[in-house]
Amino acid sequence: MISPHGGTLIQLIEDKTHHHFDYSLSVDETAASDLELIATGAYSPLTGFMTQEDYKTVVHEMRLASGLIWSIPITLPISNQVSERVKVGDFIELKFNSQSIGSLKVTDKFEPDLYEEAKLVYQTTDRKHPGVNKLFSRGDVYLAGPITLYKNQKESNPFQEYYFTPKETRKLFLQNGWETIVGFQTRNPVHRAHEYIQKCALETVDGLFLHPLVGQTKQDDLPADVRMKSYEVLLDCYYPKDRTTLGIFPASMRYAGPREAIFHALIRRNYGCTHFIVGRDHAGVGNYYGTYDAQTIFSRFELEELGIKPLFFEHAFHCKVCQSIATKKTCPHESSNHLHLSGTKVREMLKSGVKPPLEFSRPEVINTLINGLSD
Ligand code: ADX
Repeated sequence: MISPHGGTLIQLIEDKTHHHFDYSLSVDETAASDLELIATGAYSPLTGFMTQEDYKTVVHEMRLASGLIWSIPITLPISNQVSERVKVGDFIELKFNSQSIGSLKVTDKFEPDLYEEAKLVYQTTDRKHPGVNKLFSRGDVYLAGPITLYKNQKESNPFQEYYFTPKETRKLFLQNGWETIVGFQTRNPVHRAHEYIQKCALETVDGLFLHPLVGQTKQDDLPADVRMKSYEVLLDCYYPKDRTTLGIFPASMRYAGPREAIFHALIRRNYGCTHFIVGRDHAGVGNYYGTYDAQTIFSRFELEELGIKPLFFEHAFHCKVCQSIATKKTCPHESSNHLHLSGTKVREMLKSGVKPPLEFSRPEVINTLINGLSD
């Protein structure tokens, strides 16, 4: 089994004990999901929200202060007003939706340079970028320190049956006898280009871990509950059951393109994957990133250090002459024969009441999406 990033799978889940807290603090959905992902070990080696030292090296060098690769700041923002009462040393109860979710021991409190964070992490300070907009609106002061999470969040997760912690997926992969596992990140329904690249990968590895992100996404992305039904039906009809596992990834989407691709890969390593698919404009939005920027960024790191092998795929399309999905690497025909597939296009078609054609998406998937969206 592949080692987790940093060598140890972090476990910070505890039964709620009767701690004496200094006070409680409400956190947003992204912080709540980050807390959960730190505690389950998905973000190993992180054991808490980032201190200023880690934050700075992550923003500037894509590394933790220890030198380990890490590309996205994991922070706990608060407002200036709240900041006035917080002191280093405080022991705080964290709440989300009025529920107690965990604890934070404050070891650091600092004012980040949000413009610098936007520029270096997202490559833009444009507020039209959904990740940047969120960054600028979350809070001007960051709290840091070690955390714990109360009870396994599985119990309150709407997709319980597909909720696996990294410890659980590792066990599952071992039980399946899989030595090589490819992870697939998505925030969209699976279309034919996705299926093509997943199955190309599956030709050479033992198992596919379909790991859709179900945390916070931007307004016009399809809701996770509708997407989950479409994954179920797709796997049921078109994927070998003994070589595929569906699990949810309860994270917020950042839309940070290349930096998020590195982050996504490291996290899948923690879940036990040995390979990770990076296709066209991974985790991108609008035209902020080049089509293959999320692939070229990997060349900045040694494979050994990443500990997971990225599998790169060219932009896949349907070719009318080949009568199949293909890429520039496998199809010799003129681009006028090519039908380009994307999650954005599927969303637009569904919204305007147009059924995406068979070349685009499996009919069972489309029917599930249409039914789900009309409920
Ligand atoms: S995201 O989470 O990366 O934003 P999305 O669902 O759009 O999700 O894509 C999932 C994965 O499939 C990413 O690695 C992306 O690069 C890849 N991908 C999406 N569409 C295509 C395509 N037409 N050709 C090749 N790769 C694609």
